[in-house]
Amino acid sequence: MKIAIIQFAPLIDNAEATLNKLEQLLNKCNDSELIILPELANSGYNFQTKTEAFDLSENISGRFISFLQQFATKLKAGIISGFNEREGDKLYNSAVFVDKSGVIGKYRKLHLFLNEPDFFEKGNLGLPVFEYNGYKIGMLICFDWMIPEIWRKMALNGVDLICHPSNLVLPYAQSVIPAYAIVNHIFIATANRVGTERGVSFSGQSIVANPQGKVIGRLSPEKEEILKIDINLSISKNKEITERNHLFNDRRLDVYNDLK
Ligand code: ACM
Repeated sequence: MKIAIIQFAPLIDNAEATLNKLEQLLNKCNDSELIILPELANSGYNFQTKTEAFDLSENISGRFISFLQQFATKLKAGIISGFNEREGDKLYNSAVFVDKSGVIGKYRKLHLFLNEPDFFEKGNLGLPVFEYNGYKIGMLICFDWMIPEIWRKMALNGVDLICHPSNLVLPYAQSVIPAYAIVNHIFIATANRVGTERGVSFSGQSIVANPQGKVIGRLSPEKEEILKIDINLSISKNKEITERNHLFNDRRLDVYNDLK
């Protein structure tokens, strides 16, 4: 599957300029089957008040999602993007998966970072996995990287690729993601943002890691740019690590199945 990560910086005070920027970047991805954007790509990250976060949010039938759908149709691709989602009077830090047929599904961030609970509800959609072009695709968002259980749970649910829209602030995730890829024998694509927003800097270095734990593509720490790579997702299906070791069957659940 030909995937593309768009690493960019949305403008928190100018949604129109964000869409213009994204339009130019998306137009460069006409050879990709799946395009992945960072967390909160419609709004920016560092809100000053709940009112501001609310004003910058959109519901699932809003302008940002229709914009993504138009591009998914034009580019004949799937698009996964983080977005600031409004549902009634509640906000969620969400990721949406669209293609030409519309919204395939969405995920709401389970593990909120630092001040995010001031704006967002905790995710309430579990850990969905979606079929796309014959493979199973899941989504996690940024600080979800800190919780190993969810990566394992998605692998046990058969995920081949986890797309990971991010606004990474701490410098650790890019070293941990390749380890999650090898211990779960899956592909992971982390689409991070760049830039500094109201004093908070984001670390870029979007990566794709393969089931051998190798980083097979990496972007720069600061530039807005696109990572394109062709990955063989069928490799994720084989959990035989040696002729005598199976990633899941070798687990000693008799010892740690009661993990709480
Ligand atoms: C983060 O979860 N955006 C650091």
